[in-house]
This record gives sequence, C-alpha cells and structure tokens, in this order.
Amino acid sequence: QLMDKGNHRHFMQKEIYEQPVVVAQTLRSYLRPVEEQVALPDMAFDLSTVERVAIVACGTASYVGMIGKYWIEQFARVPVEVDVASEFRYRDPVLTPGQLGVVISQSGETADTLAALRHMKTHGLMTAGIINVPTSSMAREVDLLLSTHAGPEIGVASTKAFTCQLAVMAALATNLARAKGRLSPEEEQEIVRHLREAPQALSHALAHDDDIQAMAGKIAAARDVLYLGRGPDYPLALEGALKLKEISYIHAEGYASGEMKHGPIALIDDQVPLIVLAPSGPLFDKTVSNMQEAQARGAQVVLISDARGIAQAGENTIATIEMPEVHPLIAPLVYAVPVQLLAYHVAVAKGTDVDQPRNLAKSVTVE
Ligand code: AGP
Repeated sequence: QLMDKGNHRHFMQKEIYEQPVVVAQTLRSYLRPVEEQVALPDMAFDLSTVERVAIVACGTASYVGMIGKYWIEQFARVPVEVDVASEFRYRDPVLTPGQLGVVISQSGETADTLAALRHMKTHGLMTAGIINVPTSSMAREVDLLLSTHAGPEIGVASTKAFTCQLAVMAALATNLARAKGRLSPEEEQEIVRHLREAPQALSHALAHDDDIQAMAGKIAAARDVLYLGRGPDYPLALEGALKLKEISYIHAEGYASGEMKHGPIALIDDQVPLIVLAPSGPLFDKTVSNMQEAQARGAQVVLISDARGIAQAGENTIATIEMPEVHPLIAPLVYAVPVQLLAYHVAVAKGTDVDQPRNLAKSVTVE
C-alpha cells in the first residue's frame, strides 16, 4: 500500500504533493499549540550548555544544515559549522566538549554521515539526529533523535524529507535560542504562528504546478542552468541545481546571488536560464540587483517570488512563478516546491527515469 503511486505518474511527484500533509504531521510532534511553544523530546543533556554546533550531512540533507546555520546563528547566537560528511572526519575538525553534533539524514544509513556521527561520539560530543527512518543505524546511535515524519521516501531525489527536515531544524533552532535566553515568549509565539502556516503555504505553492509545467520546456532545451538565492535561499539555490542535475542530467549550478559577479556571470548569455529565488523581504532588493546585472547581459531569467516581488521585478523575464507571500523563516520550505517541480517537469520533458536516475542509489551505504 505504502509503495503505491496513487494517481501520480512517479513517486517523486507523489512525494512532492505529500508535503503539506507530512510537514504538518512532522510539526505536530514539535509544536504545542496551546502553550504556543516549540518543544523537543526529552534529552539527556542541557541545551543551555551548547557553545558551538557542528552539522554534518550529505547532498540535500547538507543544504538543510546550511539553512540551519543561518537560523541557529540568527536566533540563538551560537556559532555553527556545516560540513559535508565525506569531508568532516578527514579534515580532523576541532571538536570540544560543549559542542553539539547534529547529523541530518533521510535514510539514517548514509555511510559517510554515520561515520561522522561515530567520530563525534568518540570525541565526546553531545549528538542529535534529524532522521526519517526511526529504525536506522543513526536513529539508534544519536543521543537525541529528532524524527521527521515524512513517511517512506521512494524517489531517489529527496523532496518531502527535505521540507520535513527544515521544519525540525526550525524547532531545534528555536529551542536552542530559548535555552540560550535569546527568545522572548512573544518571539516564540510568532515563530509558532509562522511554522503553523507552512502546510497551507506549501499547498498554495503546489497550486502553481501548471505554470511550472508550462515553462519546463524552455529549461529542458538548456545545456546549463544557474540558480541564485541569498541568505537561507542560497542553500535552496544549491538544492535546485542538485535536483535538476540528478534527474534531468542538465548541468546546473547554484550560487549565492552576490557571488555571481565573481565568476559565473562570465557564463551568462541568452542560452543560459537563470532561476532566481527571491521572496519579498529584507534581502529582495539585493538579489534583484544581482538578477538585473545578469539580465543586462542577456540572461533568460525565471523569477520565483511572490506577487509583490513579481510586480516589482518581473519585467524582462522569460517566466515568473508566483509563490504565496510568507515570512522569511518559512520561505525555504515553500520555495522548495517550485524548485522540485521544475526539476520534475524538466526531467519528464526529457524522458529520463525520474524515480531511478542513472548512477544513483537512494541510500549511499559506501564511503
Ligand atoms: C538528493 O536528492 C539525493 N539523492 C542525495 O543528495 C541525498 O540527499 C543524500 O544521499 C543523503 O541521503 P540521506 O538523507 O539518506 O543521508
């Protein structure tokens, strides 16, 4: 039953569409609606003693770690390092007591991430894991299991696990901020309110599927695609590029918007689509000015923003994709949807094997 695609053509599509439900399901175990608080399961260590955080993961899960760095540093003022797991052990990182090690993994079996977790434990770190498979090796070995309730993810391209991991990361950042005395009850109530809006905002994002499908043909013909984003939407640009690469086999790169002028802008001509992730908010104008630098050089821009942002900057684009207007905290969850759908429709247009892309395994259990 669980392995059924339902009305969907591919597992990936089904899993993209499950997001409002599974994110709500995940948030349910972290939000206390009556108290308007974000809660974590009981733990054997005291979050107020955490002085530094080391986050380790692979691929899509590592982008959750990068977004977590923005959130934890902003809310809790605790310094965070993020590593891809294959680099972590071998660079002999400085690990000190008072550091919290966080691993993020859908499968809980990724060999590099599991080895990084064991390395952290050997060095005496407190550990937490944002993990989807509760019976996995990582789930058994972490001190604090922070479960995502995404249900089985079958498509090799990770989609619903990503947004559920972000929801749990927001809960972790909020708890750390409270433990550090950096969060007033009013600020916490506001975070709870925004997180509770996330499932509906995801549904609104999904409602734009037809617009995305309609423009996917323009991207399917490209040889290279660039994605730009700023702040927490920068890791999402990386995620967009990874999704497109892995299932459509089109070369794609994600960049921090402000980095484009330090090199990649040389690639821009009228053959290179530029996907710009720019929700309204404090970073909007800066991202748009980077986008305009590229437009002046002929870039074929797809602007993903809300109605306000599109009204302001939607001219001279090949397409705009409208997202609901959301608080910057939940923007990375909501903007994940068009990024996933774009990769999905481009892959379908190209006729690739969406659920089983060549050379890839769902869970990478070798180093
Ligand atoms: C994402 O679409 C990937 N297929 C891949 O990057 C994946 O996220 C990575 O291998 C990590 O897997 P895990 O979450 O099961 O540890």
